[in-house]
Amino acid sequence: SGEKLAALIASRILDVPDFPKPGIVFKDLMPLFADGAAFTEVIDGIVAHHGRTGFDVVAGIEARGFVIAAAVAYAAGTGVIPVRKAGKLPRATLSATYALEYGEASIEVHADAFTAGQRVLVVDDVLATGGTAEATLGLIERAGGSIAGFSVLLELEFLNARQRLSNRQVHALLKV
Ligand code: PRP
Repeated sequence: SGEKLAALIASRILDVPDFPKPGIVFKDLMPLFADGAAFTEVIDGIVAHHGRTGFDVVAGIEARGFVIAAAVAYAAGTGVIPVRKAGKLPRATLSATYALEYGEASIEVHADAFTAGQRVLVVDDVLATGGTAEATLGLIERAGGSIAGFSVLLELEFLNARQRLSNRQVHALLKV
């Protein structure tokens, strides 16, 4: 059930105070990734939520999103597309720039990554301000993909990402 999955994730997160900066509590999901039984349950939960045939490909957001994306794609028998930080992809890219607390960041995807109308399930570990997600979802659509769903393991509700993503469906397995 959803509640069981939420409790499982909650039990496998470590809070790291003052990382990467003073005042920030980093949510470390590595203990979940490291636990085979828990990881399998969570990945299967994501696939079940969207339905095995509900998407054609999985896009993962660098870097922790890659771990989830590859596992979901394998479980559903689809391919996986990396959405990367600027300057990492070798061929022609499309990019999206978004605001950070200080400055900005860009993410990129290969311009030919998706076929027109391909149904893309987007996954990441944490939804914080939603800046990364907003940029990624728009980027995938510009590249011709159709957003079939967006799942995160953990949503930090106090940062109000849903306001920013108001026109999007967000599936968060755990909200804190
Ligand atoms: C984290 C997280 C999300 C993003 C969420 O990635 O994995 O991708 O930040 O933040 P937002 O909702 O405020 O945009 P990070 O930038 O730390 O990248 P990494 O996984 O490569 O370390």
